[in-house]
Amino acid sequence: MFNLNLNIDHFATLRNARNSNEPNVISAALQAEIAGATGIVAHLRVDRRHVKDEDIRLLQQVITTKLNLEMSTDDEIVKIAQEVKPAVATLVPERPEELTTEGGLDVVKHLKHIKECVKKMHDVGTKVSLFIEPEQKQLEAAKEVNADIVELHTGNYAIAWENDNSRAIEEHIDKFANATQYAAENGLFVSAGHSLNYRNIKDICRVIDIEEYNIGHSVVARSTMVGVQAAVKEMIDLIIKYKTFYMASISGELV
Ligand code: PXP
Repeated sequence: MFNLNLNIDHFATLRNARNSNEPNVISAALQAEIAGATGIVAHLRVDRRHVKDEDIRLLQQVITTKLNLEMSTDDEIVKIAQEVKPAVATLVPERPEELTTEGGLDVVKHLKHIKECVKKMHDVGTKVSLFIEPEQKQLEAAKEVNADIVELHTGNYAIAWENDNSRAIEEHIDKFANATQYAAENGLFVSAGHSLNYRNIKDICRVIDIEEYNIGHSVVARSTMVGVQAAVKEMIDLIIKYKTFYMASISGELV
């Protein structure tokens, strides 16, 4: 199974630049679904710098795949999430000054608070994903707080890729593979995301057991050139191509 969820935040960034309704964020999400995206991701930040409350409410009403609401554990945001009841809530760390999410959540450090937040979302029927580094202690903590999904942070892998640092790429791939093994043994679904693009998607596809990719900026940027449906489809085609190839190599079909 190869799932691509489109993070639509930066359609909202572009819209907000002129306080207008263009591009229409909801329409972008619907087009992504038509092209085969299996979910829509949106990060309702405390500063509302991209998607706004009404975007989240509308998305939940009109999309036909699943809404994955990225969020901090801020009380106001948690309350909104409890009202909206997205299919999935992804808990991420959030700093007001950051350009984008900078790293994984420290589940070990904030265990009690995160566990409470997971319970609140479970109580309204929402699954919870934790955005974490591929580290054993964070995976164990994710299990401890009853998370359903772990989203492995791929930002550092993407930096290694941009620097053409093959040794670092291999180290990241090994860490992802170990993380997926732990997750499989402990009933956690695995996704991955951050800074993935049409180039670096190739090597991460070697980690066969990553089942879902959450991608935003690169696909939104490509959409401005070729349209949303084509941009989403190009990414899905790449994922299918690489995953199928690596799965066939492992099973010995390619000799
Ligand atoms: N996953 C998480 C948890 C994120 O915070 C983000 C950025 O909002 C993404 C995936 C998508 O990252 P990018 O926009 O770099 O593809």
